[in-house]
Amino acid sequence: MAEPEIHRFSQVSSTLDVIHEFAGRGAPHGTVVVAEEQLAGRGSRGRTWHSPLGGLWYSILLRGGVADEALSLQVGLAVADAIEAMVPEASLSLKWPNDLMLGERKVGGVLCEARWQGPALAWIAVGLGLNVRNQLPDEVVPGAVALNSVLPPLHPDSLVGPITRALRAMPRDATGLSADELRRFEKRDWLRGREVIEPVEGTADGVESDGRLRVRGKDGELTCLRSGSVVIGGRT
Ligand code: BTN
Repeated sequence: MAEPEIHRFSQVSSTLDVIHEFAGRGAPHGTVVVAEEQLAGRGSRGRTWHSPLGGLWYSILLRGGVADEALSLQVGLAVADAIEAMVPEASLSLKWPNDLMLGERKVGGVLCEARWQGPALAWIAVGLGLNVRNQLPDEVVPGAVALNSVLPPLHPDSLVGPITRALRAMPRDATGLSADELRRFEKRDWLRGREVIEPVEGTADGVESDGRLRVRGKDGELTCLRSGSVVIGGRT
């Protein structure tokens, strides 16, 4: 069977918009859209995602599988592995629920959007934004970083093949994180052991297999957070 296509654009509103259009016209699982620039890139929680030239602005279509909280963690694991296979000096961690971190700063993020036909899942569009050699807007510095400011120079195009292979190889029928994925996540878990002050107080204590974040209170009580962001020492 022919490989699903990788569609490249110089400028789009959002690669997520384009992948939803392709999906609505019947594009197969694994179809990819990459753009050099997005004019209306979106981030999680309704934020704008600045997407100038030089970054990787990428979306992939997933059909089948489950749209659960674990998905963006699985995507993060696949992407981090793919980048480190190319650039062994890169040491990436994952900050629940959807951030890729290089040291203390955010280098990328994942945004999953499901579309439904009645009660049935029609498809999932997975968006990935990675700061590679793009300029970062003043308002996101010092919390953000681009790969090329700390690592050997990379072109965003060179990441498309390895990341696509890793994402197309993700298991589609599993619910939640497998034992192997939980082990791999534990090694990359940026939040583990950090003090969480919102929405509950406690210490981040890993994730459940369904992707929920575990926060251990001072009294030892465990709270599992399903979605949203956490505040750690004044940061979200
Ligand atoms: C986050 O807030 O961390 C998620 C950011 C996701 C950004 C990517 S860039 C490619 C795709 N298209 C979008 O409009 N957003 C995602």
